[in-house]
Amino acid sequence: MVHAPDPRHARATMTVNTPPPVRFGVWALVHGSRAALQDPDEPYDASWDRNRDLILQAEALGFDSTLIAQHTINPHHAPQDQLEAWTAAAAIAALTSRIEIIAAIKPYLYHPVVLAKLALGIEHISHGRFAINLVNAWNRPELEKAGIGFPEHDDRYIYGREWLSVVEPLMRGETLHHTGANFNVADYTLRPASPWRPRPRIYVGGESEPARALVADMGDVWFINGQPFADVSALIADVSARPRSGPPLRFGLSAFVIARPTAEAAQANLEHLFALAAKDADIRAVQRANTDDKSVMAATMRKMPRVGSNGGTGAGLVGSYDQVAERIAAFNRAGIETFMLQYQPFEAEMARFAAEIMPRVKRLIG
Ligand SMILES: Cc1cc2nc3c(=O)[nH]c(=O)nc-3n(C[C@H](O)[C@H](O)[C@H](O)COP(=O)(O)O)c2cc1C
Repeated sequence: MVHAPDPRHARATMTVNTPPPVRFGVWALVHGSRAALQDPDEPYDASWDRNRDLILQAEALGFDSTLIAQHTINPHHAPQDQLEAWTAAAAIAALTSRIEIIAAIKPYLYHPVVLAKLALGIEHISHGRFAINLVNAWNRPELEKAGIGFPEHDDRYIYGREWLSVVEPLMRGETLHHTGANFNVADYTLRPASPWRPRPRIYVGGESEPARALVADMGDVWFINGQPFADVSALIADVSARPRSGPPLRFGLSAFVIARPTAEAAQANLEHLFALAAKDADIRAVQRANTDDKSVMAATMRKMPRVGSNGGTGAGLVGSYDQVAERIAAFNRAGIETFMLQYQPFEAEMARFAAEIMPRVKRLIG
């Protein structure tokens, strides 16, 4: 039995006073297809050329943002290709003119001074369109095999918090004096700072308690893993209620979309992708074994059968064109601004989304 779209979405009543404007983004395919790795309709391709063309197509279709995940080795299947996030982000910045570029970053991999400098570099190449997505890791071998080690879940967040307290003021062009458990930075100033805004935007992707505390204290946007509407609403309520200085927190949602003329056709495609994903069972078993068992993200993804990463179809964006548009509008009324989306096969389904769903959402939210 596979997961059917959650009918409660259409009747959802939880709303925020003034919904934020809707923004659509696409996940770059840094480690190939998102739902199933062995798909005759989408041969494995995590190359720079493919990702470049995909993001240029997304920008031309009207997407507002792209998220480039960071992994030094492929977290699903280590022998397969993995695109490097920060070099790709810089190159994409030079080739595009409008789309926001978000590069993920795991604090243990880069000294915060170096990372802040890289971020300001891409902020300049993109003329003010760059953002970082702070993520605190789940794939043990990536850090362990590099000799960096894999500290316990909450300790990674303590380190990440100190790391961000160095990166944030440096990205603002402040002169930093910092003495802490992990970093000592004396009288450090990065130039040029951003002439377009105070600093590049800071997203945080992580669902655990320390992730929520971190984003409420220091982030601009919280990325939520794809999951049913009621769960997403509860997460937004939890984090929105926390004390915070600065502008209100904004929210993004990761989701895998299957939109078809009818709900039945969408369900048939979901079944097809489940069948293809079953071929990856051995690969997924290794991935599960490599995953930090304290990762809340991993627990969220086990809540229900789904395809796609970071919650995937768990967000329920599977259905007829009208259903998918209505569910997006409901999430938006609950506070979601940025929808970071996945498809398979990616380019064709992204174009279908732009043609069928974007105008419907526009009509629904005015
Ligand atoms: C939108 C989003 C994007 C993410 N991107 C990455 C990534 O690029 N690399 C990575 O290793 N983990 C990524 N993660 C996973 C985080 O590392 C993961 O949530 C964390 O390690 C587990 O923390 P948690 O227990 O707080 O969920 C992402 C998570 C979210 C929600």
